[in-house]
Amino acid sequence: MYDSTQFSFRVTHLIKSVAVIGAGAAGAVTAAALAAEGAFDVIRVFERRGEPGGTWIYDSDPEAIKTLQPGKLPPEIDPPLAFPSHLPHISKPSSQTNVPDIDMSFSDQPFPYGTFVPHWIPRQYIGDYFATHRVDKCLVLNTTVEDVTRAYTKVDTSREVWRLTLRRFDASRQVDVWWKEEFDALIIANGHYSVPFIPQVPGLEPYMVKFPNRVSHSRSYRSPELYTNKRVLVIGNSASGKDITTELVHSGIVKLPVYQSRRSRSRWDGNEPPEGVAWKPVIVEYDKIAGDIIFQDDPRLRSTEIDAVIYCTGYKPSFPFWNSKVNGGQLFDYSTGTLINSYQHTFSRKFPDSLGIFGFPRVLTFRSFEYQAVALARLFAGRNATPLPPLKEQENWEKQRAELVRKENRKFPDIPWDNDETMDWLRFLFQLSGLPLLEGYGRCPPVLGEKTRWAM
Ligand SMILES: Cc1cc2nc3c(=O)[nH]c(=O)nc-3n(C[C@H](O)[C@H](O)[C@H](O)COP(=O)(O)OP(=O)(O)OC[C@H]3O[C@@H](n4cnc5c(N)ncnc54)[C@H](O)[C@@H]3O)c2cc1C
Ligand SMILES: NC(=O)c1ccc[n+]([C@@H]2O[C@H](COP(=O)([O-])OP(=O)(O)OC[C@H]3O[C@@H](n4cnc5c(N)ncnc54)[C@H](OP(=O)(O)O)[C@@H]3O)[C@@H](O)[C@H]2O)c1
Repeated sequence: MYDSTQFSFRVTHLIKSVAVIGAGAAGAVTAAALAAEGAFDVIRVFERRGEPGGTWIYDSDPEAIKTLQPGKLPPEIDPPLAFPSHLPHISKPSSQTNVPDIDMSFSDQPFPYGTFVPHWIPRQYIGDYFATHRVDKCLVLNTTVEDVTRAYTKVDTSREVWRLTLRRFDASRQVDVWWKEEFDALIIANGHYSVPFIPQVPGLEPYMVKFPNRVSHSRSYRSPELYTNKRVLVIGNSASGKDITTELVHSGIVKLPVYQSRRSRSRWDGNEPPEGVAWKPVIVEYDKIAGDIIFQDDPRLRSTEIDAVIYCTGYKPSFPFWNSKVNGGQLFDYSTGTLINSYQHTFSRKFPDSLGIFGFPRVLTFRSFEYQAVALARLFAGRNATPLPPLKEQENWEKQRAELVRKENRKFPDIPWDNDETMDWLRFLFQLSGLPLLEGYGRCPPVLGEKTRWAM
């Protein structure tokens, strides 16, 4: 067992049941990798929606985000166990994917067509993937994991398990049904793009009161029609900011220019704004009295010059189900944007033999989930080719990485693809997993051949 900081770690006790939170792309490949090991009696994938697909399930009629809360983080916006609660929803992906099909598909099942496929393809693909791998039977749909607690099992008081408190909305009776289940291991694949983030700006809250419905987040954006004849300010120039600004300009129905406030230069920005777009710097204040928007070293936009403000300022991961009191601390540090006590963005230093977490690095999306899934499945089956390194070495990895990203002014989980970092990360997972058994149990971690490397 993991009893020292000095020794490499390998799961030695039998893990027979595994719970997965989330049936998006990460949940799909995790279920397939776990089933391939042939080592677990119970695999359950809990999904709060009525179908698998995660991000790729499109809500044409978004539930309004109740209150935009500038500067607030998920623990305040998305608190645990607020009962009774509405079933949450997932944001709409843009109609076109922006990642080549190789990276957005798993190695054993290509997309049916196209390099940059429309958004319904990944959705169908994820559903099909569960079926092809016969893990659709593991899905427990319409079921939200409301609490995750480390606890001793009632049957064997010396053995610790993950106790999940689950809620399913019974639509026929319009009631919530609650129950608990226990698992030897847990994999958190809950996605990180459902709780929107809006920065704190002086005067923004009074501005939202003075101009109701003027300020929104990209999570609720669906189409340009709502902005017909309006003058729009978009904040942010990452994927959402770029997509929405471009769509508004090309729609021909909003008033031009579309203003775009940028904090830094994004990878697709040229030296000049595209036609129809006017760049502005960061907003420093919303004037409470006049309703003007004041920018850093740039002329203000008067209240009469703007009809809509769309914050495209991203999302924060949220773990409202994580019982930090019982489990000995939080999972995520919002001040540094890092998972706490994690190793290689996948393993838990606190619960190395029973907990895995997905989807933080923004590389290769689906394909990188595959490496994580195989590594976790192999670890929990006790068949990984190389053990996890000693705890001390894992801690050093975190310290060194924190230092590196601090120096290079980037985020902890951001792994660039134009240096060797992506390859090193995937190589680690690949080598830890090793080969499947000769008898056919286990899944082979994919090779990263020339074609895939080119797509990166
Ligand atoms: C607007 C937008 C556009 C994007 N476009 C692209 C793109 O073009 N290409 C690309 O590769 N990636 C894109 N991404 C990233 C995309 O999120 C990933 O590709 C991938 O789909 C993430 O998969 P996931 O399984 O990690 O998370 P998700 O797809 O978010 O799935 C997580 C699942 O967990 C469920 N869940 C969460 N909490 C609970 C709970 N407590 N109990 C039960 N179930 C729970 C959710 O309902 C959800 O179904 C985009 C993201 C956004 C937001
Ligand atoms: N077509 C597509 O495939 C598509 C479309 C939309 C989203 N996505 C995916 O969805 C995920 C989220 O993307 P996203 O664009 O919504 O969020 P994001 O990538 O996290 O970008 C957030 C943006 O907000 C800016 N920002 C954050 N805090 C700010 C502040 N305090 N003041 C001013 N600006 C601030 C950031 O600027 P800095 O850069 O300076 O930090 C950045 O431009 C990504 O994985 C993305 O690839 C994909």
